[in-house]
This record gives sequence, structure tokens and C-alpha cells, in this order.
Amino acid sequence: MRNDIEKVLFTEEAIANRVGELGALISEEYAGKEPVLVCILKGSVIFTADLMRSINIPCTCDFIAASSYGDSATSSGNVRIRKDLDSDIEGRHVIIVEDILDSGVTLAHIKGLLSSRKPASLKICTLLEKRTGKKAPVTADYVGFECPNAFVVGYGLDFAEKYRNLPYIGSLKREIYA
Ligand code: PRP
Repeated sequence: MRNDIEKVLFTEEAIANRVGELGALISEEYAGKEPVLVCILKGSVIFTADLMRSINIPCTCDFIAASSYGDSATSSGNVRIRKDLDSDIEGRHVIIVEDILDSGVTLAHIKGLLSSRKPASLKICTLLEKRTGKKAPVTADYVGFECPNAFVVGYGLDFAEKYRNLPYIGSLKREIYA
């Protein structure tokens, strides 16, 4: 797997430090509120697991599965909900946890869906944000890192379902996905 990586962009240590900072910030801002973290499967499963453990106030989690990429390197633009939340979020303080905000299509769709269920508040926490190439107007409230315009994998992010288990985030060599 390592041979497929062009460059390590965010090391395991840098990610752990930043996730710790985000968790501390969320713990402070949601003190007394018991937020529900909504993990968008599958990409944000590792980020959510680490973020939850860096939050030191009571919180719960739920999962929603969406896909717009399939096995391709570019978004199809159609977001498909493959698994919905188990719980009712009406009146809850919801934090959507995402691994990457790229075109914004996935988050715009999920944000719209969840806000129609009348949560008390709804925020977005994304580990990575690409500032270029937005197709849908969506802004994150918490951002881990600005992401360069490369095809990134690792720490939950995949290409054709592989590389999610890399402990760091790196850019994939062009010949692998092109
Ligand atoms: C990826 C990623 C985000 C989304 C971001 O999910 O995990 O959810 O794309 O891209 P966007 O801002 O352009 O919509 P994907 O559809 O590949 O599914 P996965 O999480 O199961 O890998």
C-alpha cells in the first residue's frame, strides 16, 4: 500500500493532535448539551471513533451511509442514502462528522435531510476541506485541515474501498486512480 502513496500529507501524529483540539473545542462549546455525532459512513468512521474519544462531555453517536463516488475517482453528483439513522434527532444537538468536504454534494444533501427533522441545532465537523471545486454551497463549522487538491486516501478515506486502514492521509499516485 505504501508504494501507492505519492506523499504523506497528514501524519498520524498531526491528525491525533488536531482531532484532540477539535474534541476539546466541541466539549467546551457543547457543555451541558449532550450532542449526537452523526458519522457519515464509511469514510468518517475512523475520524468519528477518534473524535468521540477526545470529547469529554456526554455524547451519543449514530450512523448514516451515503455514497456518491462508487468505485470512481469523481463524484457522480447523485447522493444515495444506503442506511438511515437509527434514532430520532428532533430536538437534539446534531454534529455531522465527515472525513472530507470536497464538492460539497454529499454534505449539502445530508444537511438538508437532517435539518428537515427539526434538530435543536445542526453543525458540521469535517476533518479535511478542499477549498476549490465546490459544487454545492455548504460550509463546515469545524475543520481539521485544509486539503490540497489531490486524490487523498487513508484514515478512513478510500479509493475503490482500499487504503482506509492507512494510519496517515496521503495523496495517491496518479497511475493508481487515473
Ligand atoms: C466520500 C467522502 C465524503 C464525500 C465527500 O464519500 O467520504 O462523504 O465523498 O465528497 P463530496 O464533498 O464531493 O460530496 P464516498 O461517497 O466516496 O463514500 P465512502 O464514505 O463510503 O467512501
